Amino acid sequence: MTFLNLIELEALARERLPRMTADYFAGGAADEITVRENRLSWSAPTLRYRVLVDVSQRDLSCTILGRNRESPIFVAPMAFQRLAHPDGELATVRAAARSRATMIVSTLSTVPMEDVRAATTDPIWFQLYIHKDRGITSELVRRAEAAGFEALVLTVDVPAQARRERDIRNGFHLPTDIPIANLSNAGIEHFPAIRDDSALASYVMGNFDPSLTWRDLEQLSQSTSMPVVVKGIVRGDDAKLAVSHGARAIVVSNHGGRQLDTSITGLEALPDVVAAVDAKLDVLVDGGIRRGTDIVKAIALGAKAVLVGRPVLWGLAIDGENGATRVLDLLREELDTAMALCGAPSLANITPDLIA
Ligand code: FNR
Ligand code: LAC
Repeated sequence: MTFLNLIELEALARERLPRMTADYFAGGAADEITVRENRLSWSAPTLRYRVLVDVSQRDLSCTILGRNRESPIFVAPMAFQRLAHPDGELATVRAAARSRATMIVSTLSTVPMEDVRAATTDPIWFQLYIHKDRGITSELVRRAEAAGFEALVLTVDVPAQARRERDIRNGFHLPTDIPIANLSNAGIEHFPAIRDDSALASYVMGNFDPSLTWRDLEQLSQSTSMPVVVKGIVRGDDAKLAVSHGARAIVVSNHGGRQLDTSITGLEALPDVVAAVDAKLDVLVDGGIRRGTDIVKAIALGAKAVLVGRPVLWGLAIDGENGATRVLDLLREELDTAMALCGAPSLANITPDLIA
C-alpha cells in the first residue's frame, strides 16, 4: 500500500488505527475551523513563477540557529507517537535522519528522550512543556542538555488545554503500556481513562503551569546553554518580546488548530512576525503544510523553515519508519520540483515577489 501525497494518507492510516487515536491525531479545538483554515490558507496565494532560469542544480539547504541543514523541513513536536506505531519516536527520528529533516521531540514522548537522541547523530531539538512543579522542568532541561539536544523549544500556547470534542467523546487516554517516558521520574507517566472527559485535558489542566510569563522565558534562556526557540507566537509584538527575553528563534504556530479555534493562521501571522524581528532571529512556521508549494510560500513570506505535524503520524501508522520517511521524502521532492518550476535554484531565490 502506498500513497502519492500527504493529503490522501490520513484515510489509509485511519484504517489501521483505533478511532480514539486517529481522532486525537486529526482533531482540534471546538468546531475545528482553524484545523481546516490552516490547510486552506496555503492554497490561496498564487505563485508568479520565473522562467528561463538555470535550475539544473537545486540546493535545499538553509542555515538555522547558525547551523547549515540540508532541508528546511522539521518534524513538529508531537506527543505519544507509540500510539501510531510500536517504535514511536524512534521510528520518527530515524525517518527524519533518512530524509535530512530535523526532529523536535515532545516532552510527552513515549520513548525516553535519551533513547531518541541516541538513535541519530544528526542535531535534534527538544520541546518543553513547563509543569507547575518546577523541579520537573529543571530536570527535563538538564537531561536534554546532557543528552546533547541542539535546542530547546518552549511551547507557549497551552496555558490551558482547549476543549477537543472528539477526545471528550472518545474518552481519550493512554493505554497503561504506553508511558509518558520522560516523566517517569516525576511519577506522572500515565494517565488512565476518566469518565466523560479527555484524560489528556485533565492531565494538562492539572500539571501545566498557566502562570507562565515572559519572565519565565528569560529565566529559562539564562539557565541553559541550549538556544531557546519559542513556539506558538502569532503576533509581531509578542515576537519582539520574545527577542528581548532571550529567544533565539520563533515558531509561528497555532498548534495545528488544536488550541484556540478561529485563531489566525501561520500564513496570516508570518509577515507581521517576520517584520517585527527584523532578521534578528530565524522564524519558522507550521500548521497545514502539506505540499511543496506551501513551503515555497512560507519561505517567500520570510520563514526560514517549516514544521510538518500530522502527516508524519499517519506515515508512522501506515508503515513505521518507512512510512514516515516516505512522507518526509515526498514533501522534500515536491519542494524541489516547485523550486524548479518557480525558477528558484536555492532557498535564497525564494523571494517575496514570487507571490502574486
Ligand atoms: C501536536 N502538537 C504539539 N506541539 C507541541 O509543542 N508539543 C506537543 O507535545 C504537541 N503534541 C501534538 C500532538 C499531536 C497529535 C498533534 C497533531 C500536534 C502541535 C504540533 O507541534 C504542530 O504545531 C502542529 O501539529 C502543526 O500542524 P499540522 O502540520 O499538524 O497541521
Ligand atoms: C496536543 C498537546 C499534547 O496538541 O500539545 O495534543
